[in-house]
Amino acid sequence: MSIAFQLEPLHHSAPPVFLSDAAANQPLAFAVMQAKVSDREREEGFVWNLAHELRQPLSALATAVAVVTQDSPSGATALAVAVMGRQLRHMTRMVDDLLDAARLSSGKVSLITQRLDIRQVMRDAAADSATAAAERGQLLNMECGATPLWVNADAQRLYQVFSNLLRNAIKFTDRGGRITFTADGSTSRIAVRVRDSGRGIDSQALPRIFDLFAQVQPSAAGGVGIGLSVVREIVTLHRGRIDARSGGLGHGSEFVVTLPAAPAGRS
Ligand SMILES: Nc1ncnc2c1ncn2[C@@H]1O[C@H](COP(=O)(O)OP(=O)(O)O)[C@@H](O)[C@H]1O
Ligand SMILES: [Mg+2]
Repeated sequence: MSIAFQLEPLHHSAPPVFLSDAAANQPLAFAVMQAKVSDREREEGFVWNLAHELRQPLSALATAVAVVTQDSPSGATALAVAVMGRQLRHMTRMVDDLLDAARLSSGKVSLITQRLDIRQVMRDAAADSATAAAERGQLLNMECGATPLWVNADAQRLYQVFSNLLRNAIKFTDRGGRITFTADGSTSRIAVRVRDSGRGIDSQALPRIFDLFAQVQPSAAGGVGIGLSVVREIVTLHRGRIDARSGGLGHGSEFVVTLPAAPAGRS
């Protein structure tokens, strides 16, 4: 089966690239290389600016939808308003993800860490993903033992990591599939695993799935390839790491987040 790897960013009409005076005096190959780098940077900058500009109209639309909903519409209008609400939430999440990716990649995010039992964050993420899994007839099973697993972490950011991984597992697994969400720990590290019985990832594509805008076989599944890059940035900020494994296409995937354990002693 062939893998279409889409790494080229969006095909909008990119602004023209002007080589600087210094670049104009460089040998041609070097100048072209520079142009390519700045092309990519310009495209990313364009996407970040666009995302920023989209926030305000999206929030105005959300307010308008809330106002119409308060009027308890019926029939076709109620259905239309429900569709608008769902699609707006979807768009807002994509725009927020883009802005988050921009802030994270430019080092503008600082963590608000506290000593916490990672199992609580896992429970919240699993509870919030349960409906989506059930809608696809999937079994979402969480196992994290009876002992607290302490880490120094930003609860909201960790929630974002686990939710993203669970959302992917649900999205890339067929109806009736199985997703397991587990954690175990030692004195030095805590490992959290999201494993699915879904479509799996080709070994050639595996090393690149954490890159921004990278998608394997872009499909009707939706998304634009931001989630895993955000996940990796957050895990790295926690001085942890994330690894992906798969037995290959059709054999499911496993994502492992490893974080330093908080020193034992206090409870
Ligand atoms: N659980 C998974 N099973 C199979 N493929 C996955 C899984 N998680 C991620 N991927 C692959 O990695 C790509 C990047 O994921 P992500 O950054 O979350 O982007 P998106 O979900 O928007 O496509 C996905 O498009 C998909 O090809
Ligand atoms: Mg995703």
